Amino acid sequence: MSNIETTASHWDAKYAAATQSAWVQNPVVERTVYRRMTGQEGFWLDWVFKNLVSPVESLLSVGCGDGSHELLIARQGFAQRIVAFDAAREAIQRAQETADGEGLKIEFRNSLFEEFVAAPGPENTYDAVLFSGSLHHVTDLEGMLSAVRYVLKPGGKVIVNEYCGPCYQLYPRSQVETVDRVIASLSNEFRSADRLVMPSIEMIMDSDPTEGVRSALIPVLVPLYFKREYERFIGGGLLHPLFTCLNASRVNDGSPESRTLVEMLILLEDELTRAGAIGHDFMFGVYVNETNI
Ligand SMILES: C[S@@+](CC[C@H](N)C(=O)[O-])C[C@H]1O[C@@H](n2cnc3c(N)ncnc32)[C@H](O)[C@@H]1O
Repeated sequence: MSNIETTASHWDAKYAAATQSAWVQNPVVERTVYRRMTGQEGFWLDWVFKNLVSPVESLLSVGCGDGSHELLIARQGFAQRIVAFDAAREAIQRAQETADGEGLKIEFRNSLFEEFVAAPGPENTYDAVLFSGSLHHVTDLEGMLSAVRYVLKPGGKVIVNEYCGPCYQLYPRSQVETVDRVIASLSNEFRSADRLVMPSIEMIMDSDPTEGVRSALIPVLVPLYFKREYERFIGGGLLHPLFTCLNASRVNDGSPESRTLVEMLILLEDELTRAGAIGHDFMFGVYVNETNI
């Protein structure tokens, strides 16, 4: 199987199983992440379109997955017309059926980042471009950002909500040790593993060879192509790897003990991040295309 087929089948299987990233399955963590993104309560996407990107005529979404964000944007009237593409064929098909059933103006395409970079389409076409969890799967970041700049109108906005931690999510030893010390401090009922195990390169290539392929370069490269309008680094350096080692049914059960534990872990992540002991795994920003303004 080629890398792209591996990625597409990996994601189709994930969407079919409705799997969500472990740490944001926890509602307390999810709310905290949204607050770190926007400084307020509530879903980040609504906030973006109410505060930074006024409702647009046309929006392109790169790596739209099952289309959940794009359907929401169209339903809320935040974009009149949406083009969205992704490698995951079945997810795209289902998203198109939903959009058509609701009479929403979204064109879901089953196509690849590589195809878009090679032939991005007409210049100055879109008012906004969305990357939600997709840019960290792009190998040719420079090609992708150039292609986006080409299709974006002058003054158009790029919305980025991304993993920006270590490439391939291969954490440095010091960070793995920090996570391991936290795991060791938890009682058995809350954990599903004794320590954080980094995958081998063979495991990475077999499951999803584009997971965080050049992620650490995202915060460096995006501002070289677009002007920063809003940018927040939103943590995750402890919680994101840690949650893969926690017993999800216990830690997410909503009991006072699990809630207290999660709140303490969030506090610990805040302190470790502030002290510079761990980095940020995620970032969120809105950038402007200044070309020919
Ligand atoms: C983390 S998911 C994000 C999906 C969606 N934007 C969201 O916020 O839920 C990453 C997506 O990138 C897509 N992807 C990965 N490599 C791709 C490629 N080469 N071309 C097109 N899509 C790709 C995957 O199929 C997957 O749906």
